[in-house]
Amino acid sequence: MQHLVDTNDLSDSQIRQLLDDTARFKQQMPSQLLRDKLLITLFFEPSTRTRSSFEVAAKRLGASVVHLDPSRSSTNKGESLEDTFANLCAMEPDGVIIRHSDNQTPGLLADMEMTSVINAGAGNYAHPTQALLDLFTMREHFGGDVAGKTIAIVGDIVSSRVASSGIRLFRRMGMNVLLVAPEQFMPQSDLPQFERLEDVLDKADVIMSLRAQLERHAKPLFDDYAEYARHYCITKERLADRDTLLLHPGPVMRNIDISDEMLSDPRCKVLEQVKNGVYMRMAILKLLLLDA
Ligand code: CP
Repeated sequence: MQHLVDTNDLSDSQIRQLLDDTARFKQQMPSQLLRDKLLITLFFEPSTRTRSSFEVAAKRLGASVVHLDPSRSSTNKGESLEDTFANLCAMEPDGVIIRHSDNQTPGLLADMEMTSVINAGAGNYAHPTQALLDLFTMREHFGGDVAGKTIAIVGDIVSSRVASSGIRLFRRMGMNVLLVAPEQFMPQSDLPQFERLEDVLDKADVIMSLRAQLERHAKPLFDDYAEYARHYCITKERLADRDTLLLHPGPVMRNIDISDEMLSDPRCKVLEQVKNGVYMRMAILKLLLLDA
């Protein structure tokens, strides 16, 4: 049984296989590879992209999906998460896709070895499927290898599981990673750190903008996000005519993270990331439920 708690659960050859399968599925939709498979989604935090993308991916492959809404589940009557999970596993799903505010939860459930656990986002620690789809989007854009390319991650890095998983995966793939943030949003890291966005614009092949993760701030870190945007919003004036790939995992805070104008600029691939997310999650489900 294989889990996906973070990308370090995957070997190099499995990552290569995921990238190849994603490209293949994008060229031609596969047949019902996962008919007879059953997945359960369990999202303790809100989601638009990840949850619907997993459901679309599973259904495109012929699998069935059951969603348990935690706000209406027996966890609200005092049942522990482990017991809820064990009861779901008694229904013999082939995998459980979980999002939780706690960094450790997907790993703890995976260690119970009852079904394949797929992390759909845990605290500020890991969002492996986002990192993989972002890697695919960059490889597609550059026509292959990303080794030696430079990505600048801009925004609330300290609170971001997208940044955490991305940094681990992109470094593993040989990319240079630069961190750009005000001190409130900057994590402890051995990576190059910049407070001024202007200082990385000529170095970056890719800019990944992140929203402020307000739900993870114990107290407000910024009084005024208009002031934040004045320094960190990706605008056409800032990017000028540079040939930079612009990514954002979503949800985008318009005109704080990225300007309206840049969101419709061809260099911005936010919706392409979402499209690629379906194909990457199809590849992930195939790997975990069929191949592993
Ligand atoms: N990128 C991402 O995780 O988006 P959702 O929160 O909408 O799933």
